[in-house]
Amino acid sequence: MTELLRIENLKQHFVSGKGLFKKGYTVKAVDGVSFSVAQGETLGLVGESGCGKSTLGRTILKLYEPTEGKIYFEGKDITGLSTKEMRPLRKDLQIVFQDPMESLNQRHTVGMILEEPFVIHKIGTSTERKQWVEELLVKVGLPAEAANRYPHEFSGGQRQRIGIARAIALKPKLLICDESVSALDVSVQAQILNLLLQLQKEMNLAIIFISHDLSVVKHISDRVAVMYFGKIVEMGPAQEIYSNPQADYTKTLLSAIPITHPKNRKRKRRLENKPNVA
Ligand SMILES: Nc1ncnc2c1ncn2[C@@H]1O[C@H](COP(=O)(O)OP(=O)(O)OP(=O)(O)O)[C@@H](O)[C@H]1O
Ligand SMILES: [Mg+2]
Repeated sequence: MTELLRIENLKQHFVSGKGLFKKGYTVKAVDGVSFSVAQGETLGLVGESGCGKSTLGRTILKLYEPTEGKIYFEGKDITGLSTKEMRPLRKDLQIVFQDPMESLNQRHTVGMILEEPFVIHKIGTSTERKQWVEELLVKVGLPAEAANRYPHEFSGGQRQRIGIARAIALKPKLLICDESVSALDVSVQAQILNLLLQLQKEMNLAIIFISHDLSVVKHISDRVAVMYFGKIVEMGPAQEIYSNPQADYTKTLLSAIPITHPKNRKRKRRLENKPNVA
């Protein structure tokens, strides 16, 4: 498999609480993370709230300057690139946030929102862009007429489809999904996850899928990285992490997943009731 992204000893430290007479303290949000992601691969990034998942995602996209470490994209060191030098790469690196109500401009029609990436990167004529917007809408399972409506006229799941359409408009190579289905109902979550999987196959898209919800990550990931206080404590094929976790922290996280399937629930209770089972 061809390597798309590699990060080496990446750190993001924030200084908080600094004032005129206060020295402040350092929050080590990301503290020495190394991994690589292959083309077309999905890497799940899990860990509890505040462990640094979003900060890691944003640092990889260079929305934050890393405190230390290296980021390589397609073999090229992009760590030191300026905002201007990053501009052509923005096409390849995209993010889908949790709440499209915040990330989509509510005063713009869906058509304007989806046309914007092409306008920013000066791609196509006005007629061509309108055509691409329609194609994008159909691709994410929305009617072409949606272009004339505003984000608030859609349901949460539909709005996330718009967010995804915008993120894939320029055919990126890496998509970071930061809690992208966390605010949705379970049945809608499944639809959006299936959409992401289908797009990934069509576009050979690599995805870093950030979530605090381990059952969601299991469904979508090839490999899973478990994060704890800014560090990756365990990483491996999804199947192995879930069936045979090594790190104590992963075991704790997994045991906290509610058992929803009635069959499994019964089995667990029976085991617990056996006197010889600790
Ligand atoms: N801009 C910032 N300035 C200072 N501290 C920050 C900043 N952004 C994040 N932090 C701190 O860094 C740590 C990691 O935050 P982050 O948002 O990355 O966690 P997370 O794993 O995404 O959590 P959640 O699951 O709640 O989204 C937290 O302690 C947070 O308070
Ligand atoms: Mg977060």
